[in-house]
Amino acid sequence: MAPTLTPDASAAGTFTLGGDLTVHRMGYGAMRLTGKGVWGPPADREEARRVLRRAVELGVDFIDTADSYGPDVNEEIIAEALHPYPEGLVIATKGGLERPGPGQWTPNGRPEHLRQVCEGSLRRLKMESIDLYQLHRIDPEVPFADQVGVLQELHDEGKIRHVGLSEVGVDEIRRAREHLPVVSVQNQYNLSQRQWDDVVDYCGEEGIAFIPWFPLATGKLSSEKALDEVATRHGATPSQVALAWLLHRSPTMLPIPGTSQIAHLEENVAAAGLQLTDDEVRTLAATVTD
Ligand SMILES: NC(=O)c1ccc[n+]([C@@H]2O[C@H](COP(=O)([O-])OP(=O)(O)OC[C@H]3O[C@@H](n4cnc5c(N)ncnc54)[C@H](OP(=O)(O)O)[C@@H]3O)[C@@H](O)[C@H]2O)c1
Repeated sequence: MAPTLTPDASAAGTFTLGGDLTVHRMGYGAMRLTGKGVWGPPADREEARRVLRRAVELGVDFIDTADSYGPDVNEEIIAEALHPYPEGLVIATKGGLERPGPGQWTPNGRPEHLRQVCEGSLRRLKMESIDLYQLHRIDPEVPFADQVGVLQELHDEGKIRHVGLSEVGVDEIRRAREHLPVVSVQNQYNLSQRQWDDVVDYCGEEGIAFIPWFPLATGKLSSEKALDEVATRHGATPSQVALAWLLHRSPTMLPIPGTSQIAHLEENVAAAGLQLTDDEVRTLAATVTD
C-alpha cells in the first residue's frame, strides 16, 4: 500500500530566484480567487482569504498574482489575508496585460502604463518593494527596449527586486537579458501542453525559474485517464501525478497550481512529496498529449 501523501510544500525542495530569494518548489497561483472570467470579486471573499492562509500554513512561500486579476481584486485579497507578510513569503505579481472586460486581455507595454500599474500593485499589496515583477506580455506595439527600460528604472528606484517575463521564447529571453537580469519565465506548460520544452531546457541550463501556468491544464489533467495507473500505484490522484511530473521535468520548475478550494489546495501541495520513477516520467510524456 502506497504511503499517504502529506500536504507540505517543503517536500518539493527549494529553488533560489535571482540568487537571494529561496522558495519551496511548490507554489500557488492566486488567479482563481476572483469572479467568473477572472473578473470582479470571488463569490466568497472570506473563503478566498482562508485558501491563501491555508497555503501559507502548508509551507507555500511563493504566490503568483497580477494587477489584471479582477483587476486589482486578487492583489487586494492577498493583502487582506496575509499582510503583514510572514518572513520569507514571496509574492510575485505581473503587469502589462490590461483587462477591458471579463475574459479579455490586451497587452499594454507603454512605459508610463507599466510604471503606473507597478505602483498600483505596490499600494494594493502594501509593499515597499515587489520581490518578483513579471512583464505579463511583451507588447509588440511598443519598442522592446522601452519595456525592459522602465523595468530597469523601477528596479533602480527600489520598487522591484527582480524581473521575470511571461509567454516568451528563448530569443526573447536572450534579448531581455542583454538589458537586465531575468530571474524567471512564466509560460503555459503542463504534461499535455509541452510547446515550450525548449524554454524549459534553456531556463534549466541558465538557472532561471520556469513557472508553468495552467500546470493542471485548467483542471483537465485531474480527470486524465492516462494518469490513472501511475496515480493508483502511488496512492495519489491524477492531479498530483501531473504536478509531480512537472517537478521532475526540471530542477528550476516552480509550479503554481491554482484553486479556489482548500481541499484541492491540500491535494495539490501534497504532490510536492510524490516521487515518480524515471520510467514513469518517460511513459507519461509519451502517452499524454493534448
Ligand atoms: N502568465 C500568464 O499569462 C498566466 C495565465 C494564466 C494563469 N497564470 C497563473 O497560473 C496559475 C495557475 O493557472 P490556473 O489556475 O489558471 O490553472 P491550473 O492550475 O492548471 O488549473 C486550475 C483549475 O483546475 C481546478 N483544480 C485545481 N486543482 C484541482 C484538483 N486537485 N482537482 C481538480 N481540479 C482542480 C481549479 O478549480 P477549483 O478552483 O474548483 O479547484 C481551476 O479551475 C494562475 O492562478 C495564475 O497565477 C498565469
